[in-house]
Amino acid sequence: MFKKISTVLALLIVASMVLAACGGGGGGTIKIGLLSPLTGAVPTFGQSTQEGVEIAVKEWNAKGGILGKQIELVVADSQCSADPAVNAANKLIDQDKVKFIIGEVCSSASIPVSEIVNQKKILQISPTSTNANVTVDGNGVTKPFTFRACFIDPFQGLVMAKFAAGKGYKTAFVMYDQGNDYTVGLAEAFEKSFTELGGQIVGKETYVKEDTDFSAILTKVAETNPEVLYLPDYYNIVNLVGAQAKDKGVTAVMMGGDGWDSADLDVNAAEGGFYSNHYFAGDTRPIVVDWLKKYGADYKDANGDPKVPDALATLAYDAANLLFAAIQAAGTEDTTKAAEALAAISWEGVSGKITFDAQHNPIKSAAVIGVAGGQLVFAESIAP
Ligand code: PHE
Repeated sequence: MFKKISTVLALLIVASMVLAACGGGGGGTIKIGLLSPLTGAVPTFGQSTQEGVEIAVKEWNAKGGILGKQIELVVADSQCSADPAVNAANKLIDQDKVKFIIGEVCSSASIPVSEIVNQKKILQISPTSTNANVTVDGNGVTKPFTFRACFIDPFQGLVMAKFAAGKGYKTAFVMYDQGNDYTVGLAEAFEKSFTELGGQIVGKETYVKEDTDFSAILTKVAETNPEVLYLPDYYNIVNLVGAQAKDKGVTAVMMGGDGWDSADLDVNAAEGGFYSNHYFAGDTRPIVVDWLKKYGADYKDANGDPKVPDALATLAYDAANLLFAAIQAAGTEDTTKAAEALAAISWEGVSGKITFDAQHNPIKSAAVIGVAGGQLVFAESIAP
């Protein structure tokens, strides 16, 4: 008799475990949208981001999913640009019916997407968009449905200003893309902080993203002969400017922000430079070591060696975990409740411990990375 009951019980337990593993626990799937720049000017950003999110999805699905449902990731190519990102977001929301979006990567894409999601009550978390206006509107009011997993540009600009001042540099030239929210915000932040720290901005020039010849600006840089050339743009532009600056004999130390972070950064063009970033792969914290192992097991580089996750992959993994944990904690797919749970979360991420301030921004340290001898080397960690 007892034996029979226990056999039936055991069968029931096994059956429910199988159901949970297949997503049958709560029934069906939960769709998560990902806006990722897989094509366009900065495709490594999209690839890394998708890889980071996919590891989180795999791990959560293996544990039974969210609210007993398997996660179904719906990826849309948003190209690091406003119009394609808005179209991709509308498609995810209206056609695919997602209620949760991870993305975009680039601030100029995440800002217009944030307008849509806040109208439609779709919960958005950007892994990496650092411009201050991603999570707050023009009046400084926090957008209720938009969060991010990264620090913001006023801090990132301050980090490099402090780093430059700490090296004793007194003069800097700033050049940036006038049409890119990210580079504009970072240029402003660096200028403000560097000046406050006693430095002097000896020149400031803008360009547009289609530019490939920077000789007019670099001639001015050579003439003003600053100690620092601050270039807060993405790796594709850094590769061009860095090479041309070396040709022109510019001796200023190039500095920039997280946008330099790419497997396709030309380390010869960037040689001698420094940039602020969200994490450093050589960090010895166990959570980082563990992350490198997981990522390297799933993804290989061109030589077939374990691929080292960049900051984009890492923040994408953290952002996905934050979102999934918040939905799970809310106990419902209701986006208002999930947003409340996210605002209150405390999460040990690979990029650091994450809790949100009133503007939905995590407060985290930045790593300054140097490019020396063709290698990326950790220079300094700067806390808020
Ligand atoms: N911070 C950049 C932006 O807001 C995106 C980015 C993050 C790029 C991290 C590279 C690494 O546009």
